[in-house]
Amino acid sequence: MVLSREGDLDKGGRYNRERKADRSEFSAKALTFSTMAVLWCAFLLVATSILPASRMVAGSQLYTNTFSVKLHGPDGANGHVDEAVAHQVAKRAGIGFQNVGKIRGTKDEFQFVHHGLPKIRGRRSIPSVLLLKKDPSVKSVHQQPGFKRVKRGYKPLMPSMYSYLSRHEFLANKFNSYFDKAVEIDEDQERYGQLPKDPLFKEQWYLRNTGQNGGKPKLDLNVRAAWAQGVSGKNVTTAIMDDGVDYTHEDLKYNYNARASYDFSSNDPYPYPRYTDDWFNSHGTRCAGEVSAARDNGVCGTGVAYDSKIAGIRMLDQPYMTDLIEANSMGHEPDLIDIYSASWGPTDDGRTVDGPRNATMRAIVRGVNEGRRGKGNIYVWASGDGGEADDCNCDGYAASMWTISINSAINDGQNAHYDESCSSTLASTFSNGAKDPNTGVATTDLYGKCTKSHSGTSAAAPEAAGVFALALEANPDLTWRDIQHLTVLTSKRNSLFDAKHRFQWTMNGVGLEFNHLFGFGVLDAGGMVSLAKQWHSVPARYHCQGGSHTKIRKFTNKSGIILKLNTDACKGTDTHVKYLEHVQAVITLNSTRRGDVELFLISPMGTRSMILSRRPNDDDRRDGFTKWPFMTTHTWGEYPWGEWTLEVKFNTPSFDRYTKQFGKSPNAGSTAARVRSAWADAASSRGRYGNVDIDRAEEAMMHTGFLKEWTLMLHGTRDPPYSELAVLDPHSKLAIVKKAHTIAGPDTTVTMQQQSAY
Ligand SMILES: *[C@@H]1O[C@H](CO)[C@@H](O)[C@H](O)[C@H]1NC(C)=O
Ligand SMILES: *[C@@H]1O[C@H](CO)[C@@H](O)[C@H](O)[C@H]1NC(C)=O
Ligand SMILES: *[C@@H]1O[C@H](CO)[C@@H](O)[C@H](O)[C@H]1NC(C)=O
Ligand SMILES: *[C@@H]1O[C@H](CO)[C@@H](O)[C@H](O)[C@H]1NC(C)=O
Repeated sequence: MVLSREGDLDKGGRYNRERKADRSEFSAKALTFSTMAVLWCAFLLVATSILPASRMVAGSQLYTNTFSVKLHGPDGANGHVDEAVAHQVAKRAGIGFQNVGKIRGTKDEFQFVHHGLPKIRGRRSIPSVLLLKKDPSVKSVHQQPGFKRVKRGYKPLMPSMYSYLSRHEFLANKFNSYFDKAVEIDEDQERYGQLPKDPLFKEQWYLRNTGQNGGKPKLDLNVRAAWAQGVSGKNVTTAIMDDGVDYTHEDLKYNYNARASYDFSSNDPYPYPRYTDDWFNSHGTRCAGEVSAARDNGVCGTGVAYDSKIAGIRMLDQPYMTDLIEANSMGHEPDLIDIYSASWGPTDDGRTVDGPRNATMRAIVRGVNEGRRGKGNIYVWASGDGGEADDCNCDGYAASMWTISINSAINDGQNAHYDESCSSTLASTFSNGAKDPNTGVATTDLYGKCTKSHSGTSAAAPEAAGVFALALEANPDLTWRDIQHLTVLTSKRNSLFDAKHRFQWTMNGVGLEFNHLFGFGVLDAGGMVSLAKQWHSVPARYHCQGGSHTKIRKFTNKSGIILKLNTDACKGTDTHVKYLEHVQAVITLNSTRRGDVELFLISPMGTRSMILSRRPNDDDRRDGFTKWPFMTTHTWGEYPWGEWTLEVKFNTPSFDRYTKQFGKSPNAGSTAARVRSAWADAASSRGRYGNVDIDRAEEAMMHTGFLKEWTLMLHGTRDPPYSELAVLDPHSKLAIVKKAHTIAGPDTTVTMQQQSAY
């Protein structure tokens, strides 16, 4: 039924609420233009050596030499336009123009390139657009802006050569004697079967943590328990959207799905990584090995889903990303590809607010609605490597409801120091970051080699893709939402903890434990596969606009805003939501310092989600947020009706905290003078010394902001999501949520006392 379709913007007025719901995620794009300016200002600071000074106009947009061109279809072709027509249009437009191909998932849109234009420049080419537009077959033309997307991988301080195998290990690896030397006691053999015989398996602590290198035994993906149930990812394909995949690698070549692969960085079917002598383009190959490196072949380690197929989608290796490259990548072969894994995103500099553009957003929406023959593609996202100074809810890819964003823990259960936190993270897997350098992620590497030091949340996302591949083999009927529900219900707190004690594990209103850093915990492959086997697809999904505040309200560093909103969750309409999945707070605000604004959303059942944390490097004072959909997963399973609260406030560090953080000891003098100079430093973004205008600095510290809109979007089901599932384990999360759902049905009035009873 259409009601549960995602992002369906074209339905009639009857589905008004739903359309608004989807617009909320779309309208995030309205922001992109203004954020581009911020992004590019930041970028241009470091790019002076590349771009001539004349082009460094602050706030300017950069344009590539590619165009999206929409054509008129011939009558009776149902809007479908042949490739040949597009070739003719390019030819008529003149020398330099080339039709690169149809944009994935569209009937009538093509990507053109003009070889006579610079690959990037500071203004549009009006003549090119006019040339194309005057052709009668052309409906519309958009020159593609270029923007930055970066790989997410923590860069070790050591030179990269150290991250490859030592000569001894390499030879041992080659002669397959490494494993024989290290005879291991395996107390789980009877239960779980043989251990893989791959030389690097014992380094893959994320698959089997025996406490190697100071790790915590049994803190791993529990993947052997999944393999023991007979699944290894057969007939499931994961696409690695990255800088290419070395598909000739001995450990990958038999699992390579060439039909589902493509190179959008250079427009050909061979996504082989471009050579550089620093192995910069090893990222995709490393991610691929984590998912589906072959087992028992004596090469490197073992993939999480070692019989699954891997597709390479090369799309990160050009100087500038375009909307079309992203859209093509995420919409490529949606029936051959089950899972798309992305370990990249907008720059994690703690000052960027950016997300998918229009065509990319449409591709994702098409993927979840139509991909996998209607079950929906699974998009897995690395939550980001910006560390505590960034918030992944400012990354529109990770924060999307249609992606599963994955954070990382290190081998003893702490968060990694590069982890960002946000309320949209659904779960976690493992990556590097412990003191011992041998605790990176062991996987395949370029040119037939192996590495032990793949890193960052980059390394975490593919592990999740592998676990989902196992679940999909166990039950190919799982929809994109089933995978999210399974993730919530089977992820474990295990021994994950916040190294800095900022974020505690908290129970939501239906008894699900979550953590602002780790989501619902670490993926448990064994648990997910066994629940997948008995799973019944969750009921239809609805979108309800729970309410909205649009009066402009001022807030300062002295007084924040506490806004309440009472909702019946669209009761009595055809979009009534009774059981929550995702919740979005769509917010428009500006402030004198965006990075100092913090936002909290409190559900009627009392769950408090931090939907925006302080970002000390974000000194934006102009753009703020425009209809930005802050998302939380923390209220999963709760009832949405009742009173929601939004808290808006400044978190400006006090003098002490400021000096502690930046380690600057103020000059001698009176206390007042010291305070003043510290404030002044804080106010001028790069800590100017000397002639600081102290009055202005103080004024800057008197932060003000204006909240202009808060719209509450509720997404979830009308029917209880797990009613058809049998409870096999009374201590499982499934049992807890089901029980909570029977204690107080959504049609009863729940009192606060009742709520706190569970
Ligand atoms: C593999 O998956 C395809 C659909 O993707 C399905 O048609 C086919 O039957 C499956 N093959 C096996 C052996 O399960
Ligand atoms: C993107 O979509 C928004 C909202 O639908 C629209 O206003 C905007 O013009 C679109 N931008 C482009 C470049 O097509
Ligand atoms: C922020 O919004 C307020 C209220 O609409 C407006 O007066 C002010 O000029 C805005 N500030 C900026 C920097 O745009
Ligand atoms: C707010 O700003 C004023 C002006 O600089 C400052 O005196 C005051 O301490 C700030 N208040 C808080 C709570 O930080």
